[in-house]
Formats: sequence, C-alpha cells, structure tokens
Amino acid sequence: MSAMQATSGTNNLEALWMPFTANRQFKKAPRMLVAAEGMYYTTDDGRKLLDGCAGMWCCNAGHARPRIVEAIANQAKELDYAPAFQMGHPKSFELAARLVAHLPPGLDHVFFTNSGSESVDTGLKIALAYQRTIGQGTRTRLIGRERGYHGVNFGGISVGGIVSNRKVFGTLLTGVDHIRHTHDPARNAYSRGQPEYGAELADDLERLVGLHDASTIAAVIVEPVAGSTGVLIPPKGYLEKLRAICDKYGILLIFDEVITGFGRLGAPFAVDRFGVTPDIVLTAKGVTNGVIPMGAVFVKKEIYEAFMTGPEHMIEFFHGYTYSGNPMAAAAGLATLDTYEEEGLLTRGTELADYFADGLHSLKGLPHVVDIRNCGLVGAVELEPIPGEPTKRGFAAFLKAFESGLMLRTTGDTIAMSPPLIIEKPQIDFLFDTIRGILQTLD
Ligand SMILES: Cc1ncc(COP(=O)(O)O)c(C=O)c1O
Repeated sequence: MSAMQATSGTNNLEALWMPFTANRQFKKAPRMLVAAEGMYYTTDDGRKLLDGCAGMWCCNAGHARPRIVEAIANQAKELDYAPAFQMGHPKSFELAARLVAHLPPGLDHVFFTNSGSESVDTGLKIALAYQRTIGQGTRTRLIGRERGYHGVNFGGISVGGIVSNRKVFGTLLTGVDHIRHTHDPARNAYSRGQPEYGAELADDLERLVGLHDASTIAAVIVEPVAGSTGVLIPPKGYLEKLRAICDKYGILLIFDEVITGFGRLGAPFAVDRFGVTPDIVLTAKGVTNGVIPMGAVFVKKEIYEAFMTGPEHMIEFFHGYTYSGNPMAAAAGLATLDTYEEEGLLTRGTELADYFADGLHSLKGLPHVVDIRNCGLVGAVELEPIPGEPTKRGFAAFLKAFESGLMLRTTGDTIAMSPPLIIEKPQIDFLFDTIRGILQTLD
C-alpha cells in the first residue's frame, strides 16, 4: 500500500477509472509519481525514475523547465481564459506564426486543438470539407492503415487499425478503408533506421483506388513512424511512393505527427526527416512539452485559402473547441518553443542518434528479443510473446523497469523508448544497461 493510501486510511484510489490501464492490477500495487525534474520522475516512496519515454512521448524538453513553468504562472495571473470563437488574444496568433516558421514552406496555417485525438478529427474534417469546397464533394472516403493509431475519438479509431481500440465500439465511421501495414520482420528484422524492403506496400493505395475509384477518396492518413503499435519505421521509399500516388489521384495526404513532431526523430518533424511533405500535418504532445494539453493542425496555404470565400461576416469552417489556442496553452507553447530553440533540441536527436542506436542494437541476442527498431531518439525492442498469453511478457518488463529506476512504455510485447531530447550519454547507458538486466532475468 502506498504512503498516500496509508495516511488517508481508505482506498482512495477506487473512484478513478484510469485510462488505458489495468485498473485492478494498478490499485493493488500503485505506481505513483509525485514530482519530476529534468530527466527524472520521483515516486511517492522517494525513488528516482529515469524517464525513458518523455512522459508519453510528449515532454521533449524534459520536466519542470523554468521558462515553461514561469510562463504558465504568469499567464494565469494575466489572462486565464479568452473565448476562442469570434474573439482573439495575442499569444495564440504569436504561437501560430512562430510554429509555422518551423514547418516546410507552404504548410503555413495552423488550427489549434487540445489533444492528438482532436487534431486527428480536425484534420479529417478539414480534408472532407476542403474536397467539398473545391467541387470534389464525391470524395467522402477516408483511408487509414492497418496497425495505425490516431487517438481514440470516433474519427481516429475509424481510420486507425489497432483492433482492440475498435472492436467494441460498433460500426464507427462509414466509408473508411485501410491500406496494409509495413511491418515485415521476415525481411527487415534488426534494421538500423529505415528498413530496406517494403516501398511497394504503398501500392496498396492503388489497389484501394481500383476498388473504390479515386473520385470517392478524400484523404489518406498515416503516422510517418507508427508509434503506439510498436514503433514501425517506414521502409525506404515508402512515404515518397504514397505521396506520388496521392498526387496522381488528387487525394490529400495527412501525416499524423503527434509523436514524431518536435524533434523526436532528430529533425523538427518527420516531414523534414523523410523529405516528404503532406497536405496536412497533425501534432499535439510536444507542442507544449506535454505540460498543458494542446494540439496543432498544420495545413497548406491552398487548403486554408479555399475556405476563405463567401460573405465576410460568415464563419468559414464550422469547427473548433472551447479551448482552441487558449491563453495557458499558448503561453506554454511559446515558452516551449523558446526552450527548444535556445537548446537546439529539435535537431539534438541527430547528434545522439548513433550512440542511441548502438546501445539499442547491442541488445540483440538477449533472451526473448525478436526484433529491434530505431529512428532518431525512438527505439523499440520486440519480445517474443509467451505462448497463449500475449502482452504478459511486455508488461512484466515494464514492471521490472519501474522497480529498477526506469520508466518505459510497452505496447503488446514491444518495449518502446522515446526519452526527452535533453538526455545525456550516461543516461542512455543507464537506459540500455537496465533493459539488458531486465531481459536477462525475464521469464
Ligand atoms: C500518432 C498519434 N496520434 C494521435 C494520438 C492521440 O493523442 P491524444 O492521446 O493526445 O489524444 C497519439 C497518442 O499517442 C498518437 O501517438
């Protein structure tokens, strides 16, 4: 029983229904975090945990960064909230202008949301409304990819491809189809960086065009690096091919950069890392260093301008959130960008990528390891599942890591790592030494 329960005298954990959590297991043996600074969390029993996943792929500059802390405190005193519809406040405009300067030319307008899931639904709605606005109203179909994760709202789970996130929620959106995923361990296991084989998997989009006809397809959405399904790196040439097929048929290409955005791959965005520019880029998480919920959807100039017609007093796009671009998030976003820029964090992953990859790939050959994948400061170690008990071995690795002073994420039987971009080499050593120790003792 944790200190917190002991002092309260009741099981005060009962009321909370925890998200994406084994609630009963957790409440029997809680893992409580009570503080965080730099690269480390502190648990309620006073232990330090190295943050091996930047919170949940979001605290890219590490924790309790002074600029961000100060900006939030000051903002709360100055302007706590401003209506998002038909009113403005300076910091949301300033943040928009500064953010688009980090995107490739052309992706120069941004719509604010409050999470990755909202960014996904916003991006899908923009795509549908845009096609209608330019006279392509028959293009109502959305194409996702198997194993894709696009958050948990209905749009996102419809285009997403993770079975357990979909199967109990009814019929989802209609008019959605999926291209094949790119995971091909038979040809690509233990690839360092982008796998050699699989560019041709993008041709699956041609198959769906053949089936449905291009005139019915509005957009294709993919994660450039699929994160939540276990870190799948795009094969060489795959994203380029997807872009070319979309261009050929007038289909919008959407990159979900909710985890790849803001330096995770060693470049500001996957767009830069892979040299492929989609029409819409979805972000969240790192936009505010994970401190205040916020998402940002970037669109090409043509898309924004297509909406800017009709009587000027009329709302052009019937969509938005009470908290779109709210002052607290905007202040956190500006201070986050200051921190990233001052410390060169959006490209720091490139300097560390080789060292990180060396440590990661040194785990090859350890018990249960069947594949290792990496890109920038993202890494994954895939473990062989216990026969008949999928996810159990991965979860055991996660629990052992927690006991050993390391916070990891596991998805199924894959261990995923995405540390804050401020990580130092001795901490990278600790990360992989700890995982090595765990794998040597895991059943
Ligand atoms: C690629 C991707 N899209 C969307 C989301 C959803 O983000 P949120 O949990 O902020 O809604 C996530 C979350 O991990 C993600 O990885």
